Amino acid sequence: MRLWTRRRMLQASAAAAGGACLPAAVTGCAAGRPAGGAPAPATPAPATPASLTGVGPREELLLDRGWRFHLGDAASVDRDFEYGRGRMFAKAGDLFAPSSRDFDAGGWRAVDLPHDWAVELPFRDDVAELIEFGSKPLGRAYPETSIGWYRRVLDIPKRDAGRRLVVRFDGVYRDAVVALNGHYLGRNLSGYAPFEYDISDLVDHGAPNVLVVRVDATGREGWFYEGAGIYRHTWLIKTSPLHVARWGTFVTSAVGQGSARLTLRPAVANDGDHEAVCTVVHAVLDPSGREVATARSQPVAVPARDRRELVQEVDVRAPALWSVEAPALYRLVTTVEHGATELDRYQTTFGIRTVEFDAARGFLLNGSHVVLKGTCNHQDHAGVGSALPDRLHAYRIERLKQMGSNAYRTAHHPPAPELLDACDRLGMLVVDETRMFGSTEEGQSQLERLILRDRNHPSVICWSIANEEWEDQGNSRGARIAATLAHLARRLDPSRPITAAMDFDWGTGIALAVDVQGCNYERPKQPETNLDALHRRVPDKPTMGTEVASTYCTRGIYVADDARGYRTGYDVDHPGYGATAEGWWTFFAARPHLAGGFVWTGFDYRGEPSPYKWPCISSHFGIMDTCGFAKDNYHYYRAWWGDQPVLHLFPHWSWAGREGKEIAVWVHSNLERVELVLNGKSLGSQAVTRYRHLAWNVAYAPGTLEARGYRGGDLVLRAVQETTGAPARIVLTADRPSLAADGEDVAVITAAVVDARGRAVATASNEIAFRVSGAGALIGVGNGDPSSHEADKGATRRLFSGLCAAFVQAARQPGALRIEATSSGLAPAAVTIECHPAAQRPAVS
Ligand code: GAL
Repeated sequence: MRLWTRRRMLQASAAAAGGACLPAAVTGCAAGRPAGGAPAPATPAPATPASLTGVGPREELLLDRGWRFHLGDAASVDRDFEYGRGRMFAKAGDLFAPSSRDFDAGGWRAVDLPHDWAVELPFRDDVAELIEFGSKPLGRAYPETSIGWYRRVLDIPKRDAGRRLVVRFDGVYRDAVVALNGHYLGRNLSGYAPFEYDISDLVDHGAPNVLVVRVDATGREGWFYEGAGIYRHTWLIKTSPLHVARWGTFVTSAVGQGSARLTLRPAVANDGDHEAVCTVVHAVLDPSGREVATARSQPVAVPARDRRELVQEVDVRAPALWSVEAPALYRLVTTVEHGATELDRYQTTFGIRTVEFDAARGFLLNGSHVVLKGTCNHQDHAGVGSALPDRLHAYRIERLKQMGSNAYRTAHHPPAPELLDACDRLGMLVVDETRMFGSTEEGQSQLERLILRDRNHPSVICWSIANEEWEDQGNSRGARIAATLAHLARRLDPSRPITAAMDFDWGTGIALAVDVQGCNYERPKQPETNLDALHRRVPDKPTMGTEVASTYCTRGIYVADDARGYRTGYDVDHPGYGATAEGWWTFFAARPHLAGGFVWTGFDYRGEPSPYKWPCISSHFGIMDTCGFAKDNYHYYRAWWGDQPVLHLFPHWSWAGREGKEIAVWVHSNLERVELVLNGKSLGSQAVTRYRHLAWNVAYAPGTLEARGYRGGDLVLRAVQETTGAPARIVLTADRPSLAADGEDVAVITAAVVDARGRAVATASNEIAFRVSGAGALIGVGNGDPSSHEADKGATRRLFSGLCAAFVQAARQPGALRIEATSSGLAPAAVTIECHPAAQRPAVS
């Protein structure tokens, strides 16, 4: 890791969909509303070519269930199902042994997607660099665990003859070679960008078809845990030959007084052999589902095997603007009609809002100043690795919102689509980042796929094209690469600005090509990384802190333990380039021209256990741990980002053996004054200074430590820490009382222990055994301990600082889902969750 070392040393609409121009642009109009163009004249319905009829409406089918999985071997052709042997490409249809129909996959394991095989592997420390990546045996040194094979047999019915069939992968880590019935479909390198293949020519109708994916996770794209396998959803999409093209709608809006003009840019693909004429019809539905505008195009002739892009405009009166507090979502229903026949129907969720970055005023949403109170995050979670069920994406965004955060940077890679859906729904602003900084075909393709897929999400406020590109960020090569990427981004989406996250060379190189200067880590002593000096140097450039803080904290620990790899919960510790929560926020909050900042990170993630090495295997930067349990700094941000009174007192008060010794007692509060009381005796009160914590040094005596928070002389909140007795019984809490019995929904179960008097024991480390029965299953466990080597996929977990979590997923049959927890010497606990009948998403059987 040469670069790594070097870097650490240093640290002491005019555009059209798909980028094509707009031939034969057709302007439509809102029915009954003047929207730029006359209503379409009544056109005699052209006869529908036989190739377009009788093929049924669009179906988007989840292709997650019913896969078989087997590890391959990068060092052995025999153990890698003969991959690479002989004449793979000599004749079409002979690519891999496993994609032949006769292949015996009897020894392959049944798996459902999303699936991450890395999280199932043991932790290893025999190769030094592994520590950065989460200590799982992936890479050249572990050929026997770095290749994964996935196989799915698909029945394609005879009635699908004539339809276009596409398989879409939302994310595979990484280097996937895909075959159908022995035919090569393609190779996708990126572990994060979505990709798809049209399989219409290769399927056998009325017969089983074999889809095989060989995934090679030997290489790395990042410097953190990335997982391995088909870790996002996979889809089979069936359409008429004439259909809305892939990611084929784009809605932008110009918000005026009392109304918004929407520009709709649909793209229609004709994958058939004959020219076809169609009309593109739109209905705009408001957040309550009421139709508020429609548009109908002139007839459009789409040549065979070609596509056409249109521009249509409609007005929406009194639009509900999307915002962080009220994330109003509209829906666009696009239909492709041929005469009276509806050939395709496609839905797009979008929002009506404006975004702007301004060098003097920071960030503006709908014209109003909003400070970006953001976090950066990777995508793994306890128990599941990078294969998050949709609900866990939403859970993470909810936890961040509860803290008062309003912004999320998808560092350093395209996110799962469901993460953006959650941000749209919950009101979270997103800086959406690509992985590869490159103007090559691959680099541009990754960015293009990100933008085409994500550009209708109202939550996305900005595209990020780079993070700390040390070889390029400050030089003319970086400027050239960035200019190419920025040009591409503006062509695909003229409505959003572009940023790049840079840790040096601010104002130069890459920065010259982007709209918003992204600054990673203010280091004021060096003029190059001093934000005030930058503002003087380039006063006209909007600027945000794309990365700030990197504060080291371990949940529930108050004495650093280097042997076990724990920092403390106090807000005191960070690498040389980083800052405390209090440090960075005090600085940014005083400079409204800065658009805000993104804390590294919202959640701990696997890998980068800085400042430690093995046996530590997870990062310490999170405001929450890998389970989403709050560290003490969570309450700092809640106090200064949120809008509720906060009084958080720490540490716990069980320090047997330290009687009489001083303990640092801290309070995070946004009240006016806090008094500290030990066993009924006041230790004095202190006034709260905005954005600062309060601290006392208290000689330890067992009993009750209490903080009393006042505003205007009134007692508003009390917080208590008590010396507890030995653990006596387990307490289980479910984050939700009921789940949808859709085979996907997830509940987070928290296990804690209490003493004989029912008080939570914050220091407990008992091992909890989970048993799940009824209408669901256990999919993983975790405890946020950055040095735990316990299995995520096991059924037992030790408490860490008094807590651990179990993740349970609903089955497809409704009923009661029961979770029982036992531990030697403790009274057990159980919780029951009701799984209600729910529609299942259409899926391939
Ligand atoms: C940043 C980098 C992040 C992470 C962080 C840790 O410089 O962009 O990915 O490594 O440092 O502090």
